[in-house]
Amino acid sequence: MASLERRPDDMVRITTPELANAFIDEQIKLIKEQVGDKKVLLALSGGVDSSVVAALLIKAIGQNLVCVHVNHGLLRKGEPEQVIEVFRNQMNANLIYVDATDRFLDKLAGVDDPETKRMIIGGEFIQVFAEEARKLDGIEFLAQGTIWPDILESENGIKAHHNAGGLPEDMNFELVEPVRILFKDEVRVVGDALGLPHGMVYRQPFPGPGLGVRCPGAITRDRLEAVRESDAILREEFAKNGLEGKVWQYFTVVPEFRSTGIKDGKRAFEWCCIVRAVNTTDVMTATVADLPYDLMCHITERITHEVPGINRVLYDFTPKPTGTVEFE
Ligand code: XMP
Repeated sequence: MASLERRPDDMVRITTPELANAFIDEQIKLIKEQVGDKKVLLALSGGVDSSVVAALLIKAIGQNLVCVHVNHGLLRKGEPEQVIEVFRNQMNANLIYVDATDRFLDKLAGVDDPETKRMIIGGEFIQVFAEEARKLDGIEFLAQGTIWPDILESENGIKAHHNAGGLPEDMNFELVEPVRILFKDEVRVVGDALGLPHGMVYRQPFPGPGLGVRCPGAITRDRLEAVRESDAILREEFAKNGLEGKVWQYFTVVPEFRSTGIKDGKRAFEWCCIVRAVNTTDVMTATVADLPYDLMCHITERITHEVPGINRVLYDFTPKPTGTVEFE
């Protein structure tokens, strides 16, 4: 591997555009040295790490980077469109977009156990990605958005390094990991310097199984749509009211449970939408965000009137512990 395996102890934290540009220039040189005129494959989720890796590789090797964006149907509103707009239209990337929504949702139909849902989503993702990879000729490298905390956590046995492995054994690619020695905040500074949109660089954490874990129980298309639409309203209102970037993570959850309500003078037996908004520094514990009462009323008004199937909005006041951040 041409890029550095380990973060040097004396490495200066990348906090400025100048430091980011120096890092970018160095990585472009290293990537070129490592891959030459060969092709590199990347699973591009649209999250900050894989997006920064994509932007770096596009600068270094252009069309020899093949990005695969798998839409598992559990992404937030507007995300697949943003990946296509930024990478294909603006950066002229070689991007394969796979809409695998039906495939994922069909496999998940009727499955209500949280761990089984996660396993199906993770397993299916690898299968779809591997199928796309097999269709391509001459790929020798796999790029990954591994970052330094991933390495430290897997070394300390806290979590299996989430990017590593997973692909079938015969798919033996050499890894390209250009942000491997960076901390998350440094990846963001580099993303800014590469010209990626602010919303992509500073977006809140989003779990791999996506909205699937926010649609507790067996996922149905209509309830999933209610999660996606209510999440979009919540994000829009947080952005409008200056809370974006201030609250660490916020989202909506729509459980299977329904209750009686009234809409247009008629009985409405519909789901409730739970708003979750938390702050944390280490993710091991989290506190509940103190949100303005008027804003909560406005968000409730919008969600109950704009999202089909929702007649109530509830706020989750539970810190972690005893709750986890996500519901599944
Ligand atoms: P919990 O629910 O464990 O969440 O308190 C802590 C943080 O981790 C995120 N999370 C995940 N991220 N794959 C991911 O990539 C997952 O399966 C997953 N589950 C939870 C969660 O969004 C929160 O930021």
